[in-house]
Amino acid sequence: MKNICVLVSGGGTNLQALIDAEKSGVIKNGKITCVISSKEGVYALERAKQNGIPTRVMPRKDYADVATYTKAVTDALLEEKADLIVYAGFMTILDEQIVKAFPYKMINIHPALIPSFCGKGYYGLHVHEAVLQRGVKISGATVHFVTEVCDGGPIILQGTVPVLDDDTPEVLQKRIMENVEWKLLPQAVSLFCEDKIELVGERTYIKK
Ligand code: GAR
Repeated sequence: MKNICVLVSGGGTNLQALIDAEKSGVIKNGKITCVISSKEGVYALERAKQNGIPTRVMPRKDYADVATYTKAVTDALLEEKADLIVYAGFMTILDEQIVKAFPYKMINIHPALIPSFCGKGYYGLHVHEAVLQRGVKISGATVHFVTEVCDGGPIILQGTVPVLDDDTPEVLQKRIMENVEWKLLPQAVSLFCEDKIELVGERTYIKK
């Protein structure tokens, strides 16, 4: 059974999807053992507590720089004996220390079809604003391994939704969350825990 540690910064609907998936048996061979938040008082922490999952609050603002913060988070994850780290709406960029400590053991959900609308500055509603401004007709979400390159690691799963004429960023975000994120993330977590993701260079293949 793999220890899953989830990193959050906000409302935690993706965390909730993971908790529900664990309960219903969608996630095989994995258990959420810890939730770490980069912000105090966010609802994701409440969701963890309601489900008896231990939490740690590590506010980014309490640390001098990215390196010090990354070291603290990495040490916490080592203490927690994390086998898999899930960035579920984690809005803080960490440096390469954590990638070295957990190579190809970290996955992120990004609310767009990578390699479009990703990288620095593309997070949360900003992503959907950019999608609408550019006028693309399809958007979605991507689950990928976390590497040194922001949103640049090997892609594991992607799913799509249509972009509709009268969408607002909020409406599009909700469509992507409901139809893609909350399904894809638990699926990818289970595939990882079952050792079904094969990595070949920059590509991943799902073992049958
Ligand atoms: C989700 O849409 C997630 O894909 C996105 O933030 C939202 C968090 O919602 N993540 C990023 O933009 C990361 N670059 P949640 O807290 O309700 O899961």
